[in-house]
Amino acid sequence: MTEVATAGGGAYEIFIGRERLAERVGALGEELGERFANAPEPPILIAVLKGSTMFLADLIRAMPADVAVDFMAISSYSSNEATQVRIVKDLEHDITGRDVVIVEDIVDTGLTLTYLKRSLAERGPRSLCTVTLLDKSARRIVPVEVEHIGFDIPDVFVVGYGMDFQGRYRNTPDLYAVKDLARLANDPLLLVPGLFASAH
Ligand code: PRP
Repeated sequence: MTEVATAGGGAYEIFIGRERLAERVGALGEELGERFANAPEPPILIAVLKGSTMFLADLIRAMPADVAVDFMAISSYSSNEATQVRIVKDLEHDITGRDVVIVEDIVDTGLTLTYLKRSLAERGPRSLCTVTLLDKSARRIVPVEVEHIGFDIPDVFVVGYGMDFQGRYRNTPDLYAVKDLARLANDPLLLVPGLFASAH
């Protein structure tokens, strides 16, 4: 799965390259196309901002079906006792009676998806399922069903293909594993020269 990238002093490596991403996302698009082949109305794909945007863009282009798209943004706060999740940008669509697909870049503890599923189920969709590019199932705190999974991955910190560190690195075509998170935390620009070589 990995291919060493030399820039950044060994702090990162390619984790899933663009070809494997394209292949797997294409397969997920086909899966979803089959799932909704006989649906009465186009499914509404709901992307959870911001990490899932690149995945969504590729996924819907791989779906041989008419679809609608909408976006949600949520925020979570952790205190000693609990993690609180709330909606900071809600849907434009009324999803009552519609087939709904939650599109996530990554399911980690499962807290976000659990909250989203509960919130969306209360609105009376015809059906509700989830597609995630990555599943860090080993980190799950809350069990949550995920119907369509791109890659089940170990507990590594990933950036690229939509995913960030402090808002950076979302716009790389490949997905990277950060091998030294402490170094990156001390120097958030550490990966820039290697990932965006032509600009530096
Ligand atoms: C990521 C991801 C999920 C959430 C999953 O979002 O997009 O929404 O974390 O984590 P959980 O399973 O532990 O709840 P993030 O907070 O990184 O925001 P972003 O997509 O805007 O980068």
